[in-house]
Amino acid sequence: MPDPAPLYAAHLATLKARADEALARGGLDHLVIPSGRLHYQASDDLGYPFYVNPQFKAWLPLTRVPDSWIVYTPGQRPQLIFLQPRDYWHVVPATPEGWWVEHFDLHIIRTPDEAIALLPKPARLCAILGEAHSTLGEYAPNNPEAVVDYLAYHRSYKTPYEIALMRQAQTLAVRGHRAAERAFRAGASEFDIHMAYCAAVGQDASELPYGNIIGLNEHAAVLHYTELGRTAPAVSRSFLIDAGASAAGYASDITRTYAADAGSEFQAMIEAVDTAQIKMGAAVAPGVDYKQLHIDAHLSLMGILKDFGVIKVSPEAALASGVSAAFFPHGLGHPLGLQVHDVAGFAQSDRGGRIPRPEGHPYLRMTRALEPGMVVTIEPGLYFIDMLLDDARAAGHGDAIDWDRVAHFKPFGGIRIEDNLLCTDSGGDNLTRPAFAAN
Ligand code: GLY
Ligand code: MN
Ligand code: MN
Repeated sequence: MPDPAPLYAAHLATLKARADEALARGGLDHLVIPSGRLHYQASDDLGYPFYVNPQFKAWLPLTRVPDSWIVYTPGQRPQLIFLQPRDYWHVVPATPEGWWVEHFDLHIIRTPDEAIALLPKPARLCAILGEAHSTLGEYAPNNPEAVVDYLAYHRSYKTPYEIALMRQAQTLAVRGHRAAERAFRAGASEFDIHMAYCAAVGQDASELPYGNIIGLNEHAAVLHYTELGRTAPAVSRSFLIDAGASAAGYASDITRTYAADAGSEFQAMIEAVDTAQIKMGAAVAPGVDYKQLHIDAHLSLMGILKDFGVIKVSPEAALASGVSAAFFPHGLGHPLGLQVHDVAGFAQSDRGGRIPRPEGHPYLRMTRALEPGMVVTIEPGLYFIDMLLDDARAAGHGDAIDWDRVAHFKPFGGIRIEDNLLCTDSGGDNLTRPAFAAN
């Protein structure tokens, strides 16, 4: 797997340069980033899973250290205030070591409050990035808009260090996808497929970048199906898996769909979507408007439904009437990185502003034109969802649809194929397919 270590110094230099400009725009002197705080259940000392502040893991490959802080002041070395509590109930985080440590001044604290003396003064000149529950004394996250807008916008341009980690996240996830497909073909339940996935990736549910979507048969039609049924159905006809992995806090987000019967029409439809998806990924290039890719995807998918006799009108007519949105009811994809739905998909500039979605496409999460360094998902899908098909009929579009063909495909649920694409100077670099080819 690609080694991020030799790339880290340049990554840090990029982050410092971005922070310098962001602070200048906000008229502030210091960047202060809490890692976050454990949140406890009412009347108990049992914590919810800890998810580190994405602004924190942008700087350091540390994802499991609550009550720690990064401080950066332009012209100075970054500081890491690292909580290493006196605690015999839990494993105490080890003192950091390794390839990134030399770039930071390290301050070990034993209680969260000890950070106050080490944070820069006065607090009012700090840009404090995080959630309200990270407040420590007068250091309450203020998330100044000018600072956040600038950092979010530029976070879209991944550094080589980040790309190396995102490639690692692909390889890890693909190990899981391979194990999951084997479990499906052996007749396993959704829960057992999930367990096979986690074991192969080496990550449990709280470490994965989002809850695994593992749907057998009709469950593949529920876009965010996360129920994990404990009992295998009598017959497993189809399997949709949308599952990623984390590498030092960077996500992959990958979907595949399988048919049990290699000779079935549903298998042929999967292959048609797969072929179309590869073409959509190949359209990723600098200057390409992601909104247009989304519209093109509608037309391409409706062409498939026409070929399979599911719709009786042209792709253009299906798009214009809203019938296409009944079968493809989500966006083509979104930015990916430190968060699975990464920031700034709508950002007009690094000074704010929002590029609106095209009318009639309320779930698209990316409206920017593509530029080198951006990573986005390309995830077309076709589903047989009663609620949306009933709506299409109620809206007077029943004649556009062949309901016998819908009834034929409904027991398979749906299809989604999702890869992660890096936009480069010379076009799209599909990060996902090579990982499948090698594993
Ligand atoms: N896994 C969530 C998504 O694809 O957006
Ligand atoms: Mn996904
Ligand atoms: Mn996605």
